[in-house]
Amino acid sequence: MSAGPLPIVRTVAELRAVVSSWRRMGQTVALIPTMGYLHDGHLALVRRGRELADRTVATVFVNPTQFGPTEDLARYPRDEAGDAAKLAGAGCDVLFAPSSAEMYPPGFATSIAVAGVSQGLCGASRPLMFGGVALVVTKLLLQALPDIAVFGEKDYQQLQVIRRFVRDLDIPVRIESGRTEREPDGLALSSRNSYLTAAERAVAPSLNRELVQAAGLLADGSREAGPVLDLVRANLLAVGFASVDYVELRSADTLASLERVSGPARLLAAAWLGKTRLIDNCPVASES
Ligand code: PAJ
Repeated sequence: MSAGPLPIVRTVAELRAVVSSWRRMGQTVALIPTMGYLHDGHLALVRRGRELADRTVATVFVNPTQFGPTEDLARYPRDEAGDAAKLAGAGCDVLFAPSSAEMYPPGFATSIAVAGVSQGLCGASRPLMFGGVALVVTKLLLQALPDIAVFGEKDYQQLQVIRRFVRDLDIPVRIESGRTEREPDGLALSSRNSYLTAAERAVAPSLNRELVQAAGLLADGSREAGPVLDLVRANLLAVGFASVDYVELRSADTLASLERVSGPARLLAAAWLGKTRLIDNCPVASES
């Protein structure tokens, strides 16, 4: 474990200098992109990166291009000093924390659109998000040129979008995933959990509980998903969620809609607790 303070670099040039010094020594590199306000879910990805590569680079950048005009960009929680201390404790080697001007200098004009897998689910209610994620992750991958990049299953659609454009654009990196880290009561760790009031926090674990219960009902493929998903929606509203963006059964790889389970599948949901939007997902074991 590194005990000293974590080196922080803020420019692409400095980042490239650090990574190429490692490369010259024949070391491999894992990249862990984040928007900061780090929790144990992020740190588990750093630990996964350390298992898979000699060196780990974490990035903290609250990426403006993935937020819609009415979303929470301005109030997104930030704590760079805390993040740096946590990363040092997790054995990360360097933090890349660029400014918006470093990432998107005046005149920036490029966008990336990923069809198919980014449509529906979060893509329906947050139409700008996956284009912004694809853009910033592509930039981070080309800036750092890591061997491996690690992303969480917590953002399952995002993970599939990233796998898609990395393949489509021939970006020479291996995408690895880490399972969702949770509170003891099942709530998925999220920087946005800090928005929840005490009353909302008490209700929040229902999202995971409902998905796990529904996954159990759907696993053997004998039931049609529709009525089960309707019940999940009704239960979430009954326990205090303000609204439900979606609860859906999808194929685990392509995210194609499924009417019943007949292979690897995933249940995915997004719902609002007051002003906070929570997402979660869980695997549905298939017996076929
Ligand atoms: P952020 O929400 O900070 O998440 C950074 C990474 O941590 C993502 O890969 C996410 O899936 C993972 N993560 C979040 N909560 C987790 C949990 N409870 N368990 C395991 N992993 C978890 O996702 C983003 O940032 C951004 O969209 C980004 C990819 C950095 C592009 O801006």
